Amino acid sequence: MRTVGIIMNGVTGRMGTNQHLIRSIFAIMEDGGIAMPDGELIMPAPLLVGRNPEKLQALSERTGGLPYTTDSYAALADPRFEIYFDAQTTDRRVPAVRKAIQAGKHVYCEKPTACSFQDSWSLYLEAIRAGVKHGVVQDKLWLPGILKLRALIEAGWFGRILSVRGEFGYWVFTGGDEAEGGDGHTPQRPSWNYRSQDGGGIAVDMLCHWRYLLDALFGGVKSVNCTLATHIPWRWDESGSPYAATADDAAYATFELGCGAIAQFNSSWCVRVRRDDLLTIQVDGTNGSAVAGLRDCWVQPLGATPRPVWNPDISSAIPYLDTWTRLPEEPTKNAFRAQWELFLKHVCGYGEFPWSLKAGALGVQLAECGIRSHKSATRVGVPDPPQ
Ligand SMILES: NC(=O)c1ccc[n+]([C@@H]2O[C@H](COP(=O)([O-])OP(=O)(O)OC[C@H]3O[C@@H](n4cnc5c(N)ncnc54)[C@H](O)[C@@H]3O)[C@@H](O)[C@H]2O)c1
Repeated sequence: MRTVGIIMNGVTGRMGTNQHLIRSIFAIMEDGGIAMPDGELIMPAPLLVGRNPEKLQALSERTGGLPYTTDSYAALADPRFEIYFDAQTTDRRVPAVRKAIQAGKHVYCEKPTACSFQDSWSLYLEAIRAGVKHGVVQDKLWLPGILKLRALIEAGWFGRILSVRGEFGYWVFTGGDEAEGGDGHTPQRPSWNYRSQDGGGIAVDMLCHWRYLLDALFGGVKSVNCTLATHIPWRWDESGSPYAATADDAAYATFELGCGAIAQFNSSWCVRVRRDDLLTIQVDGTNGSAVAGLRDCWVQPLGATPRPVWNPDISSAIPYLDTWTRLPEEPTKNAFRAQWELFLKHVCGYGEFPWSLKAGALGVQLAECGIRSHKSATRVGVPDPPQ
């Protein structure tokens, strides 16, 4: 058995607890590790790191008594831990990952890897120079719905792909009493997401995701045209105090893709969901169309494409939603866990891991190009990465 020590920093946060610890690392441990074909068993051994000992203790109790500490420096100095993982707030990522690289740890972290392309690229170069292994979360690539969509693309099922439409978002409650101008509901996302001075903003958050999806599925991104908005200027924080929302809460972006198609992605925390899922991606091609959600994928081949007639005086004769076929369920794994397993294998010498700090930096680059497009009200070309 190969035990792999992992420092998990930011593990008491939303992503750290739910996706990375409970549904990934702890789930792998409960399943007895990752069995390799040569008989080796990879077993993660996490150390929970944070600021608040009470929160850490509660998390440790939920996970069978995993060790925890508030001393991240001592953790980095401990040779039992090979990997440093970071799911802290975005603005803390660069200094924390940098320290881990300097301590000789392999690093794996949430996206965005930084708030600027320059910082994210520096981090990539520092990891290369230090010779450590590195990876960045690109979870959407392992969503069951996206895996099905990808299989259709790779099989050439669409014919020529013409356009891609992504819809992401849901309503994030503002908090605050109605008498004060709030919506009277507790917010379900952290307040820093809505403050640009604290690393918030939907463009930097979501365009990172769209970058790796567009790169992997549609031959990359040549340019972006983006309009940002802060639809809701005031929100209420975790302590119930009002604050000015200084960051964008919606990003409306159009991308020119490497495959020649056009993609439009709406990302918003100010929409209500009337679609199949929190993220849907529709691909239209000459031979057929598909709509992928988080888990499912629906298809409509050319031969089953209805022939609608515009007549608003009567109800539609075609039940449009019924003209799509849902692809069969397949055995699935949590997307974060799937990527964690690949990273752990990579660290132990089994397989490559292309979802690196370089790929993470390209995500930040697209976000930066999108923000520049908004500010200049122009279409912005996405440059090739520095050599
Ligand atoms: N992959 C995805 O789909 C996805 C989704 C949401 C968020 N994220 C990213 O994950 C990261 C965490 O997001 P979250 O929603 O879990 O945020 P969160 O606010 O719930 O958690 C942040 C963590 O950072 C810690 N932290 C905050 N301020 C700190 C400080 N001053 N000193 C030390 N630690 C501090 C918190 O204690 C907490 O553990 C962000 O970078 C975010 O962009 C990724």
